[in-house]
Amino acid sequence: MLKPPGKDAAKVYIRTFGCQMNEYDSDRMADLLAASEGLSRAQTPEEADLILFNTCSVREKAAEKVFSDLGKVRELKARNPRLLIGVGGCVASQEGASIVARAPYVDIVFGPQTLHRLPELIRQRRRTGQAQIDIRFPEIEKFDALPAPSVKGASAFVSIMEGCSKYCSFCVVPYTRGEEVSRTFDEVIGEVAELTAQGVREVTLLGQNVNAWRGPTDPQAQAAGLAPIADFATLLEYVCAIPGIERVRYTTSHPREFTPTLIEAYRRLPKLVSHVHLPVQSGSDRILAAMKRGYTVLEYKAIVRRLRAARPDICISSDFIVGFPGETEADFAATLRLAGEVGFDDSYSFIYSARPGTPAADLNDDTPQAIKLERLKRLQALIEQQARSISQAMLGSVQPVLIEGRSRRNPAELCGRTDNNRTVNFAPPTNVLAGQCEPIIGRFTNLKITEVLAHSLRGVWVESHPHGPVWSNENASDCSHQSSV
Ligand code: SAM
Ligand code: F3S
Repeated sequence: MLKPPGKDAAKVYIRTFGCQMNEYDSDRMADLLAASEGLSRAQTPEEADLILFNTCSVREKAAEKVFSDLGKVRELKARNPRLLIGVGGCVASQEGASIVARAPYVDIVFGPQTLHRLPELIRQRRRTGQAQIDIRFPEIEKFDALPAPSVKGASAFVSIMEGCSKYCSFCVVPYTRGEEVSRTFDEVIGEVAELTAQGVREVTLLGQNVNAWRGPTDPQAQAAGLAPIADFATLLEYVCAIPGIERVRYTTSHPREFTPTLIEAYRRLPKLVSHVHLPVQSGSDRILAAMKRGYTVLEYKAIVRRLRAARPDICISSDFIVGFPGETEADFAATLRLAGEVGFDDSYSFIYSARPGTPAADLNDDTPQAIKLERLKRLQALIEQQARSISQAMLGSVQPVLIEGRSRRNPAELCGRTDNNRTVNFAPPTNVLAGQCEPIIGRFTNLKITEVLAHSLRGVWVESHPHGPVWSNENASDCSHQSSV
């Protein structure tokens, strides 16, 4: 339908802003448009017949950035009147029709929950000549309308829920992506099983708060009031049991629903990686209460302590907001103290950014930006140093690694990823010629870590495990070496 006369195939260019959820959504848009419109992916906006911006409004002046980027593609439309331009994601959700009012050359505006309607919106736009806007939150119908995902490589994301109902006082997500809605148990298990048929060995379950996931395992029995509702720990158990799946990750989890059964899962499920991303945001109870996070520092530390009792080598990473309105030097010192006590691995930290429409945006914020920046740098320096010592502690250990492909720097070598997300470069085993590595890409192996570099590790092949990693906690590095929690 989008195919221009004289051209072989129409193409879509997707520019993604923000988190892994948006990356996932962009890939699903590409799958959908390939299946329904025959569009392939363009590498540059210049070669595209459809340009989509998948936006994020979690921080900073995201809307301004989108308008500035839209301005840059406007001239392409002047050259190619058939070109369609769409804006999706959280900025679209927030701004809606005002995007078209301000940039009348935009043809389609769609939200995170209506991206499955893109083919219909494109058709309507062509038919009516009018810009199409759909930013509703229809109850998770999106997944019913999307084609089966196509993946390259042995690692894939699987969205298990949409939206967020936590309403942290600083965050726009509940307003832009809607309330928490879980995909059904059958859909998630079915999608993971389908991915294994395409060679996937590692899945990352995605959601704003994956541990809020709930679903009846048998919807018919549930309708009759007979089936228990499964929780996230049960879902993990079933995902780990799918033949072919050898490693399971998830992101993001929330401390409020980090239940004892989820902690127990770390004892029972060796395929669950020894790495968890558990956003804490601040180490001050006063600030956590103002953020409406729903836990105290003590409660957070109790989760960490129990997790480490269940899985001694677990690495914990986090999200932090520095300079929340009213944050004093003492509050920030408490954050630094907590970061040191937990011994966080590589984490995300952001300066607070007031988001229009959120309760925190009305709070008096009198900390100068320079002080916020200086606090951010101190926190980042501490966490970087901790992440380095975690890498150092891995030296000499044997790590299960999923071989992802050839090394970027040296194509005669291979690279893979450890449980705690370190890239390891290594020479192929002597019985595999450098030119014939493809059969082992996508498989797990055990590597002995021989060198720690600034952004990667080096390792040597110890043994290959055709059916996945042989995991033993004696093998693993101990990320809790510097934790006092
Ligand atoms: N679901 C996650 C959780 O449990 O907290 C968070 C998802 S949020 C999209 C990702 C991260 O963005 C948050 O953890 C927070 O650190 C950061 N963030 C969200 N709103 C922010 C704001 N207004 N200013 C600065 N950082 C923000
Ligand atoms: Fe945002 Fe808090 Fe949800 S940070 S995504 S409202 S858990």
